[in-house]
Amino acid sequence: MHTHTHYPAHAPVRVVSFTYSPSSRMTATVPADLDAWLAAHHANAMDELFAFLRMPSVSARSEHASDCRAAAQWLADRLASAGFTSALHDTPGHPVVLAEWRGAGADAPTLLVYGHYDVQPAEPLELWTSPAFEPEVRDGRIYARGSVDDKGQLYLHVKALEAHLAVRGTLPVNVIVLAEGEEEVGSVNLEAFLETHRERLRCDGVVISDSTMFAPGVPSILSSLRGMAYVQIDVQGASSDLHSGMYGGAVVNPAMALARILATLHDDQGRVAIAGFYDAVQAWPDAVRAQMRTLPFDEEHFRAETGAPALGGEVGYTVLERLWTRPTCEVNGLLSGYTGEGAKTVLPAVAMAKVSFRLVPDQDPKVIERLVAEHVARVCPAGVTATVTALHGGRPWRSELGGPLHEAGVAALEAAFGRAPVITGEGGSIPVVGDFERILGAPVLLMGFGLPGENAHAPDEWISEENFRQGARAAATLLDRYAAAVAGPSRA
Ligand code: BES
Ligand code: ZN
Repeated sequence: MHTHTHYPAHAPVRVVSFTYSPSSRMTATVPADLDAWLAAHHANAMDELFAFLRMPSVSARSEHASDCRAAAQWLADRLASAGFTSALHDTPGHPVVLAEWRGAGADAPTLLVYGHYDVQPAEPLELWTSPAFEPEVRDGRIYARGSVDDKGQLYLHVKALEAHLAVRGTLPVNVIVLAEGEEEVGSVNLEAFLETHRERLRCDGVVISDSTMFAPGVPSILSSLRGMAYVQIDVQGASSDLHSGMYGGAVVNPAMALARILATLHDDQGRVAIAGFYDAVQAWPDAVRAQMRTLPFDEEHFRAETGAPALGGEVGYTVLERLWTRPTCEVNGLLSGYTGEGAKTVLPAVAMAKVSFRLVPDQDPKVIERLVAEHVARVCPAGVTATVTALHGGRPWRSELGGPLHEAGVAALEAAFGRAPVITGEGGSIPVVGDFERILGAPVLLMGFGLPGENAHAPDEWISEENFRQGARAAATLLDRYAAAVAGPSRA
């Protein structure tokens, strides 16, 4: 029985109050025509975003499949009315929205905007202050499931594109919008979609807003994401539940066996104790680590925000290093035996654990899945059988930082927020980012507009209305800056 459940924000909670001196070098500004249109249409943007947020496009639940399709169709329609050629593409799972505008011509670069219209389940519903699918603004925050992850961050790009087309009748570069409906369940069908449509999706850069800023008012470019290997471990004992007095002590208990298996996954230094787990881990580039150390981060503040009595993790690393640069193993769920009210004397027949591994370059999810299966087979106690099933995986990613897209991102964020962005890392995963680089050969710019404490994946998820506004201004500016950066130094 649980009496109190604490749901820390899914995004790392960071310092929320410290002062930055604004950049002295104020070269970049948001183009006035676009800025004016976005300001004049902000109320419309809010109404539209609210309509998007009201659709419970929960990808994990089959009963929401039609809601996922409806959200995809709604987005495709909005892109069509903005001036894009837009359609849904069926996959074995939820549809992909693919919209294109190619009026800049074959010589102009092509930018691909990626986002996801699916959301995490909203449960536990009773912990929401206002219903998860009835968006509400309180204190400048738009509360709803998917507000920040990722509908709000995706939709600000749609408004930026619409601003260009409405004001100028054109875009400075060709644009592809690719929105998937399975990001929250591991993007299981997107890799094949990219392979199949490789030619059509050919582009020079990818921009994604599905991450957080380091702190309010501090625009951020994300330089790394962890990868993922997600497995389920099933332990089977007797063929059915047994009386724990009549059989207990003589028949091996799968719940205990599973506990023993899980207890072998870490050593007492907080390291993952699976043979070969760290073999492919690369040292973090010095330049990126140096950048990281310039970010003010208060570990005690971070702890207090989570509500945990103390922090833990791998010995020898700071919290930011643990979150951004080190691989992990976490139990995400456990199930066995009787969990209802009161007591029941039963020897369960089965036990199950959901276990995910966050990976860093160059760990390969397929290799990790195999190592985990071998490890479990080795440590499984006699008297039960253990099965490891891989659920989904994604590669880790680290960016090169630099080149026209990155430069354009820096300039656009500086224009919108009035200060240059910081470079951050991330503990979360966006499985498809590595695939974009690998399959499409295009660099990826991650500029996120979430904030610490945004409650992604948790009750009371929110996005700052101000960040939506600034994000749309940055996204609109990015297109001009990108066109200029490609036409400029790198071609000369
Ligand atoms: N938007 C998040 C990833 C993220 C979180 C980026 C925080 C930056 C900051 C994304 O929607 C997500 O939650 N991804 C899943 C992927 C998983 C299902 C493979 C994640 O990280 O758990
Ligand atoms: Zn998410």
